[in-house]
Amino acid sequence: MILPANVLSNIFNLTKKNILITGGSSGLGKHFAYLMASAGAPNIVLAARRKEKLDKVQSEISTKYPSCKIITVSLDVTDHKSISLAFNEAESQIGTTINCLINNAGIANPKLSLELEEDDWDGLLNTNLRGAFFVSQEACKRMVRDKIPGQVVNVASILGLRVGTSQVNYGAAKAGLLHMSKTMAAELGRNNIRINSICPGYFETEMNTEFFNSPPGKAYLSRIPPKRLGQLSELDGPMLL
Ligand code: NAI
Repeated sequence: MILPANVLSNIFNLTKKNILITGGSSGLGKHFAYLMASAGAPNIVLAARRKEKLDKVQSEISTKYPSCKIITVSLDVTDHKSISLAFNEAESQIGTTINCLINNAGIANPKLSLELEEDDWDGLLNTNLRGAFFVSQEACKRMVRDKIPGQVVNVASILGLRVGTSQVNYGAAKAGLLHMSKTMAAELGRNNIRINSICPGYFETEMNTEFFNSPPGKAYLSRIPPKRLGQLSELDGPMLL
């Protein structure tokens, strides 16, 4: 059966989505915020540690999409208490439950396995896996509490699927995030909560700009199949889906 044109044109319409984006102050998170606003989301919550950077993004997007209410909340995903406080603040400001989470906050800390210190391991896993889990858990608890359907999109990485040297902690965290997503999807499907992950390749952001502008970074790009960095707009289709 072919879907009618009016269904197809509305299929990625986000007019009922109240979306919280972690790590919305830069890079992929900032791009996703623009994308969600352009797709009609009525409420977007930008959550990260650097409130002043978030406020700047808020003001830029609000100017372009005045019908979208954008608010900012402080959130450190490694601080368990700050997660529920951020959701409380978000829901009190938008006056409804978050029914879509883009679980995007993350860090990178490339080092060879034999050079990795305890803090390098703990810091990255605390952000990219433990933090991502508790943010996702908080969002899902609230959707289940309010008996509403919703979505979580975890931003994993190609490095959760395949091996990259100097990325032992990052790759382990992203592989863990993929498995976490599948487990939570299996548990929460009955509550009408869909949980998915996306696995982006390489996009120049604050996280990696130094590397991709260095000779080893350029050499690396020449060895990967597209021989170039991704453009953020190439993530729009998968994210909206
Ligand atoms: P970025 O450095 O521009 O953005 C990371 C965001 O996460 C920032 O807003 C930062 O404030 C936030 N963040 C970091 N630690 C946090 C914490 N403890 N609590 C709250 N927020 C925190 O980097 P980028 O590239 O935009 O990364 C976003 C996500 O995309 C990450 O999960 C990253 O692993 C993932 N990714 C990035 C790729 C790339 O090529 N740039 C490729 C594949 C995945």
